[in-house]
Amino acid sequence: MSSKADLIVGLQWGDEGKGKIVDHMAQSHDYVCRFAGGHNAGHTIVIGEDTYALHLIPSGVLNPNAKNVVGNGVVLSPKDFIIEMEQFDNLKGRLFLSDKAHVLLPYHALIDQARERMKGDKAIGTTGKGIGPAYGDKIARVGHRLGELLHPDKLTAKVIDFFAANEPIFTAMGVEAPQKEALLSELQGYKDILGEYITDTTQLMWEIMDADKKILLEGAQGTMLDIDHGTYPYVTSSTTVSAGACSGLGINPKDLGKVTGIAKAYCTRVGNGPFPSEDFGAEGNLLRKNGHEFGTTTGRPRRCGWFDAVAMRHAVRVNGVDQVALMKLDVLDGFAEVKVCVAYEVEGKEINYVPYDLEDAKPIYKSFAGWDQTEGARTFDSLPQTAKEYILAVEEMIGTKIGIISTSPEREDTIIR
Ligand code: GDP
Ligand code: IMO
Ligand code: MG
Repeated sequence: MSSKADLIVGLQWGDEGKGKIVDHMAQSHDYVCRFAGGHNAGHTIVIGEDTYALHLIPSGVLNPNAKNVVGNGVVLSPKDFIIEMEQFDNLKGRLFLSDKAHVLLPYHALIDQARERMKGDKAIGTTGKGIGPAYGDKIARVGHRLGELLHPDKLTAKVIDFFAANEPIFTAMGVEAPQKEALLSELQGYKDILGEYITDTTQLMWEIMDADKKILLEGAQGTMLDIDHGTYPYVTSSTTVSAGACSGLGINPKDLGKVTGIAKAYCTRVGNGPFPSEDFGAEGNLLRKNGHEFGTTTGRPRRCGWFDAVAMRHAVRVNGVDQVALMKLDVLDGFAEVKVCVAYEVEGKEINYVPYDLEDAKPIYKSFAGWDQTEGARTFDSLPQTAKEYILAVEEMIGTKIGIISTSPEREDTIIR
């Protein structure tokens, strides 16, 4: 008998509150594993007076009993990862980095920023961390894997050759070639710190499943940012949906257990691209203010709007969601009226699915009566009647159980239904 891995995925445009729920569930899991993305992610966890912003270290790190795996589907910046590690002094023996994960080097970030500048008003609004160029190199088969970090001299020669072969492109982008000696010493430094954590995590995943360990897979970003199923090209460069958990860790679809999809009770997006239920007026501003909607990774103000039931149905189906965790319900406290986008109007026609291009989709809303306060509620019964009605109506619209409701950033302010 081998265990099945429970999965957490974002259902909107990221920042849904995955970190809080991963941390909550990590209390009852032995391993927490990241399978996609890089340090573009920012997962916030609040424990009492302390707030942690994790970018690539799995959110299980805050549970001393949980071990943490960074899978092959991730792109890892050694420089930034090492800075993130410095917050913790108990990582030895509880952190495993895939030798097949791809290495993100400083030049990837420079290329990312140069491309964004060149796009002008068509910019994606990336985090500027180098995610697209690192995944681009992986797919073009010119990337570097973490296992190569164990041989800094060979990796240095490979990077130098790569720059020499592509000199005109780098020159056009204003990205300077690294100096051989400096690069070697940089890579040697990474090896000295990260070397002991680099391993074959595919074998590890199989071993821990066979040992019947409880495993939680931590998604990053959100379904609408998925490279295939999101609002391309305004997306990230990885497979953020549940299928990515398999390829990003070397497990098979039958290894997956319960899928929990994370969604805010409203919607936000950082960066550019379509967002049909965005509210440009006073209510959008109030959502931003009440929800402290400023990015964990870049500090950018998040665009805010109403819950989009059409995009949510798409996300539920793509991910095979068993239950939804509805986050930040408290942010809607005090609104006289709460809206839900129930369909789109595209070229004069009403549609109830996510079309090829969301750019010209106009939201069709249904309104619900608001409520005074849900903040800090820990039972469904204690919620105001109108908040219960809103949740039950959303549940019906998306055809999936809302099994978890979150009413503050704190671990304990979580309703399990
Ligand atoms: P993630 O990327 O999906 O992990 O989400 P982020 O951490 O980027 O953003 C979610 C933000 O909402 C964080 O600041 C959390 O502390 C906060 N948060 C999570 N759940 C709740 C909630 O139920 N209510 C409120 N008010 N804040 C929450
Ligand atoms: P978490 O895991 C929100 C967005 C960026 C940009 C687009 C592409 O915290 O939910 P990239 O740097 O990945 O090439 O940028 O994707 N983005 C996120 N938005 N939350 C995230 O992660 C994000 N990761 C990337 O803002 O629009
Ligand atoms: Mg985030």
